[in-house]
Amino acid sequence: MTRWIHLLAGLLATLTIATFFSVSLFSELFGAKETIATVKALIVMPGLFLLIPAVAATGISGVMLSKSRQGRLVAAKKKRMPFIAANGVLILVPCAIFLNRWAAAGTFDTTFYLVQGLEFLAGATNLGLMGLNIRDGLKMSGRFRKS
Ligand code: HEM
Repeated sequence: MTRWIHLLAGLLATLTIATFFSVSLFSELFGAKETIATVKALIVMPGLFLLIPAVAATGISGVMLSKSRQGRLVAAKKKRMPFIAANGVLILVPCAIFLNRWAAAGTFDTTFYLVQGLEFLAGATNLGLMGLNIRDGLKMSGRFRKS
């Protein structure tokens, strides 16, 4: 059960960040200002209300699973988790909230794009770290092992 929760929450958290990233990028490259504002609003609600519980559930279930597992792969995953959480809480969440406020007010100035750049950087970092955690997790669970 814990393993399923971990698998589903981990995949949901990763997919949510990948969706925020790509939809923001496409709307800012090709969309009208109203489209960008809609995207930014959806990222905050319901986006963050999916992402935050999914990351928390992944971390908690991961720690529970790691009680019965040891080794290099678990240690590497444990080391990455604080960076993923801090990146989310200290950068991604505040960026999403500020970008939504500014986009709703029609303020697309240099600060907006600087903060957007920071959000892309933090998002890409988390996607990379989460991708590594998925890879190591699947190695440990043996899901891809040939029978
Ligand atoms: C965002 C962070 C994380 C993601 C995306 C993630 C993803 C995954 C995935 C996809 C699996 C494979 C599950 C399966 O095939 O059933 C897995 C397994 C596992 N994960 Fe994570 N994980 C994360 C964080 C953590 C953390 C922080 C820990 C430990 C503290 C952890 C410990 C484990 C363990 C022990 C397994 C193997 C379970 C088993 O087969 O017994 N994970 N993880």
